[in-house]
Amino acid sequence: MAMAAVLSFLCALAAFAGPASAGDPFAYFDWNVHYKTVSPLGVQQQIIAVNDKFPGPIVNITTNWNVVVNVLNSLDEPLLLTWDGIQQRKNSWEDGVLGTNCPIPPGWNWTYQFQVKDQIGSFFYFPSTNFQRAAGGYGGIIVNNRDVIPVPFNTPDGDITLMIGDWYNKNHTDLRKELDAGKDLGMPDGVLINGKGPYRYNNTLVPDGIDYETINVQPGKTYRLRVHNVGIKTCLNFRIESHNLLLVETEGSYTMATNYSNLDICVGQSYSFLLSTDQNASSDYYIVASARLVNETVWKRVTGVAVLQYSNSKGKASGPLPPGPQDFYDKTWSMNQARSIRINVSTGAARPNPQGSFKYGSINVTQVYLIRNMPPVVINGKRRATLNGISYSNSETPLKLADLYDKKGVYTLDFPAKPLTGAPKVGRSIINGTYRGFMEIIFQNNDTVAQTYHMDGYAFFAVGMDYGEWTENSRGTYNKWDGVSRCTIQVYPGAWTAVLVSLDNVGIWNLRTENLDSWYLGQETYVRVVNPEDTANKTELPLPNNALYCGLLKSMQNEQSPHAKGEESSSSLAQVRAKLLLFVLFLAAVAIFP
Ligand SMILES: *[C@@H]1O[C@H](CO)[C@@H](O)[C@H](O)[C@H]1NC(C)=O
Ligand SMILES: *[C@@H]1O[C@H](CO)[C@@H](O)[C@H](O)[C@H]1NC(C)=O
Ligand SMILES: *[C@@H]1O[C@H](CO)[C@@H](O)[C@H](O)[C@H]1NC(C)=O
Ligand SMILES: *[C@@H]1O[C@H](CO)[C@@H](O)[C@H](O)[C@H]1NC(C)=O
Ligand SMILES: *[C@@H]1O[C@H](CO)[C@@H](O)[C@H](O)[C@H]1NC(C)=O
Ligand SMILES: *[C@@H]1O[C@H](CO)[C@@H](O)[C@H](O)[C@H]1NC(C)=O
Ligand SMILES: *[C@@H]1O[C@H](CO)[C@@H](O)[C@H](O)[C@H]1NC(C)=O
Ligand SMILES: *[C@@H]1O[C@H](CO)[C@@H](O)[C@H](O)[C@H]1NC(C)=O
Ligand SMILES: *[C@@H]1O[C@H](CO)[C@@H](O)[C@H](O)[C@H]1NC(C)=O
Ligand SMILES: *[C@@H]1O[C@H](CO)[C@@H](O)[C@H](O)[C@H]1NC(C)=O
Ligand SMILES: *[C@@H]1O[C@H](CO)[C@@H](O)[C@H](O)[C@H]1NC(C)=O
Ligand SMILES: *[C@@H]1O[C@H](CO)[C@@H](O)[C@H](O)[C@H]1NC(C)=O
Repeated sequence: MAMAAVLSFLCALAAFAGPASAGDPFAYFDWNVHYKTVSPLGVQQQIIAVNDKFPGPIVNITTNWNVVVNVLNSLDEPLLLTWDGIQQRKNSWEDGVLGTNCPIPPGWNWTYQFQVKDQIGSFFYFPSTNFQRAAGGYGGIIVNNRDVIPVPFNTPDGDITLMIGDWYNKNHTDLRKELDAGKDLGMPDGVLINGKGPYRYNNTLVPDGIDYETINVQPGKTYRLRVHNVGIKTCLNFRIESHNLLLVETEGSYTMATNYSNLDICVGQSYSFLLSTDQNASSDYYIVASARLVNETVWKRVTGVAVLQYSNSKGKASGPLPPGPQDFYDKTWSMNQARSIRINVSTGAARPNPQGSFKYGSINVTQVYLIRNMPPVVINGKRRATLNGISYSNSETPLKLADLYDKKGVYTLDFPAKPLTGAPKVGRSIINGTYRGFMEIIFQNNDTVAQTYHMDGYAFFAVGMDYGEWTENSRGTYNKWDGVSRCTIQVYPGAWTAVLVSLDNVGIWNLRTENLDSWYLGQETYVRVVNPEDTANKTELPLPNNALYCGLLKSMQNEQSPHAKGEESSSSLAQVRAKLLLFVLFLAAVAIFP
């Protein structure tokens, strides 16, 4: 019981001195983050589970709810969970990345508390440090509309989350070692769907005995499918045999409802589709997530296969998988598909006013950053990844805490607005964002793999993308009317993507590639947004009472007594031990008295 997510509704603010809004409901979660031994692709390895689940539990909440998550770190290394796409209005203190938070030491617990202010949509959480996402620790976040705010489609008959992602049989500590040794991770060993390996669609390609995911549905219904790419570096083509995917939402915006027979989903991206179970169920149907923007013949084993099973199904899925796009030499197809995703300007999202009422196309840009990534380079003998020639190195002291306690020299506010021309370097240079400014960021990908960029604290308008080098003239091609507002956007190799963002959320916010290997090697920075006039904690919430201290502020941190760390969790551990002992006694008894 202690482990289960406990939901309750509290109106008494008294219990919470924190940032809670009076009257808005609270959702409580008690999580144990721990290793677990599983064999998703037939090879035993340690993955990261939450309350024994892999993927972790779904956080199912509603606009403006207050979320309280007590996280016990049962790993043997520091942990931080980040809430990808949750905007943490005025509250980068709960963002869960190294620039804002001290990591939770092994054996300690720490309680996140934040409000999902003015948001709806599909997001996910994951461990943000130490390459841990490669081992799991992730799960879905659903932010429902409040009852009074209409949704632009009929209420679906079910809500299904699929976490898809490339996967290695090596664990995250071994993968880290490879990157530290300057190696490339090479081709992944497969693709997992909800933590499981592929259905055996081909006896040569898939070994026997792999546990696969089955999605059970009723005929003649409509399901909302939320699909997240939680992988390391591979864009995946997602498709369901004989079914259309009606795209309706991406990362908090309702899109123009559009049917796709398949959609490219890059690392870190989230989409909602409506699936009509309108087929005759002559057999089960394949659900496929296959590697994209690589030589798909060579990458054949990097394919996730699950099964869609109607309740009246007449048999197993068989035969070849439905083919993905066949366009190795022509990547404009994928880009055109990405460009075709438009916001529905006339529907409301978290609020009743239409999504199109913020007319971003008529706002004057106040700051422009052209941010280029190159293929990894060697700097001071180490393989590193860069943005504008700078490879970010994490600080022992979170930048946010350094600001609050006036510790100088932790970072510099001089991130270049254009790529540096000199030799690449390692540094901690971040962007000086002007509060209430309107920033244009152009990501230029000079690497040979697709990158997806994500900004914490914000959603940005994706206004343009094209192959080649961005120039001032490229602005003429921008979509100034119904570009989708989201938080994660792909940048094709040899191409650029432009976004516009309104800097109205005070804090220090991570701007990173979601590709885990490039991120680990330094392909990130932060955007610092300060309201110089805020003297009364109005545009930013104060440091939470339970803040951890580390780095230059380590002396302010009290030890967490073993008693305080997750009492309930340790008592349930004791229960598990007691049960184990009983089981051993039982086995012994069976052995003695057969
Ligand atoms: C990862 O695997 C290596 C052996 O290849 C092992 O030494 C290490 O302890 C494992 N790490 C974790 C977190 O399980
Ligand atoms: C750790 O968990 C216990 C109970 O599970 C809770 O009382 C305590 O407040 C938590 N500590 C922190 C720092 O969140
Ligand atoms: C989420 O919670 C709502 C009630 O608030 C419920 O109707 C819905 O079925 C839940 N969704 C999932 C996926 O559990
Ligand atoms: C299984 O995959 C192998 C290797 O790609 C291929 O040669 C073979 O034709 C496939 N078998 C079937 C039954 O599709
Ligand atoms: C999408 O395809 C389904 C059939 O799978 C069809 O019923 C529906 O009308 C289509 N919707 C749109 C908006 O094209
Ligand atoms: C856009 O939203 C409106 C208002 O909710 C809805 O009626 C319409 O069907 C939506 N259009 C598309 C193409 O999704
Ligand atoms: C079911 O649909 C498939 C594909 O559309 C078709 O080939 C098959 O004949 C249908 N079976 C029945 C029993 O209607
Ligand atoms: C993909 O790899 C296969 C096998 O190495 C090769 O035959 C094929 O030419 C490659 N395809 C392209 C488009 O490069
Ligand atoms: C944008 O700038 C132009 C001049 O460059 C000015 O005329 C216009 O009023 C500005 N628009 C807004 C919304 O500030
Ligand atoms: C950061 O930008 C603000 C304007 O928003 C400016 O006043 C300040 O001097 C800048 N700081 C640095 C270090 O450039
Ligand atoms: C990277 O930049 C170089 C030099 O500007 C250019 O020749 C090359 O085509 C670019 N490669 C990609 C993948 O953008
Ligand atoms: C704002 O919050 C800080 C704690 O982060 C506190 O020290 C300060 O007194 C607060 N300022 C006001 C005016 O309330």
